[in-house]
Amino acid sequence: MTSGPHSSASIPAGIGTPADYRPHAEARLAEQAWRYLEAGSGEGVSLAANLASFPAQRLLPRMLADVRGGHTRLELCGQRFEHPFLLAPIAYQRLFHPDAEAGSVAAADAQGGIAVVSSLASLSLEDIARAGERPQWFQLYWQGERERSLRLVQRALAAGYAAVVFTVDAPVKQAAMQLPPQVRAVNLEAPLAEAPLRAGQSPVFDGWMTQAPTWDDLAWLRERIHVPLLLKGILHPDDARRALAAGCDGLIVSNHGGRVLDGAPASLDALPAVVAACGGRIPVLLDSGIRSGSDAFKALAAGASAVLIGRPYIWGLATAGALGVAHVLRLLRDELEMTMALTGCATLAQIGPHCLYAAERQ
Ligand code: FNR
Repeated sequence: MTSGPHSSASIPAGIGTPADYRPHAEARLAEQAWRYLEAGSGEGVSLAANLASFPAQRLLPRMLADVRGGHTRLELCGQRFEHPFLLAPIAYQRLFHPDAEAGSVAAADAQGGIAVVSSLASLSLEDIARAGERPQWFQLYWQGERERSLRLVQRALAAGYAAVVFTVDAPVKQAAMQLPPQVRAVNLEAPLAEAPLRAGQSPVFDGWMTQAPTWDDLAWLRERIHVPLLLKGILHPDDARRALAAGCDGLIVSNHGGRVLDGAPASLDALPAVVAACGGRIPVLLDSGIRSGSDAFKALAAGASAVLIGRPYIWGLATAGALGVAHVLRLLRDELEMTMALTGCATLAQIGPHCLYAAERQ
């Protein structure tokens, strides 16, 4: 792990929840980096929907349950984890702390889990992989064409990444902020040149969407990747069925933290239909809006196999580097365990829709 001018390795006093890290992160980050981290797209409708969706669900406490010996362990895509929290892929982590992606991976590893490492990572994929004992997962952004995308995946697999998370909800990445000179997507080849538009052509359909992936590209990729392949950004049950038919090994229900199509529903609200479409054949994970262990519990109760967290671990990273990320994970797990105990669930397998309060059932 690196250390630098604003490297800090102590946890501020008074932190009791992941959200307590937020003001510390804001105080430490440059205004532009903070805005890049926190922003939603458009009017922020989907961002707000994510945050409102969890409190809208109520938990049903259960009494006198014997939960001694309970645990949060699970197996996912052939790997064993101590808890169901994965670190979501977040681009350019050197913006937030010198420990960057290596710090996040070291923290995830120390807490018995993994990170999904972004195509837009700011350290080399090989260096990031070396920061953890366990194999991490690699997040793919389509690189404009098949061979370039495959080269990037093959590099990640050669470095030891154990699964590929193909993000399909943001088909073309546009620079969201002006990056400082020392921070860039170091693992990517030079961007493809865009063909100039002819008169009357659309900058969307004839411009940037010409470099976006399609279901045919997914099928092509599937044939060439022999590790678990998950799609991230699925919200519609028909897309879930199509992904299943294409041989995907898992789905991540996500609206990208409210950062792409403003007006998309909260992930939690879209989850049950996707879970039903998958019929238990592949794991369905969820992200977007999880801020506590009890939020995660609600996602698991609604059918998710595991969850990813985004902004909250970056609050920890910005505040105290790898130590802060590890602490955020520990706090989330403690909260999840407490929620399980109070709802009478000793294992993740015992969490289900019956744990959520539905007025009509009473
Ligand atoms: C992201 N996200 C993202 N997703 C992805 O597939 N590749 C990426 O490189 C990034 N980069 C990124 C940067 C920043 C600053 C944010 C906030 C988010 C989306 C991310 O993986 C995840 O879906 C959301 O962050 C989940 O929502 P919460 O937990 O932040 O509410």
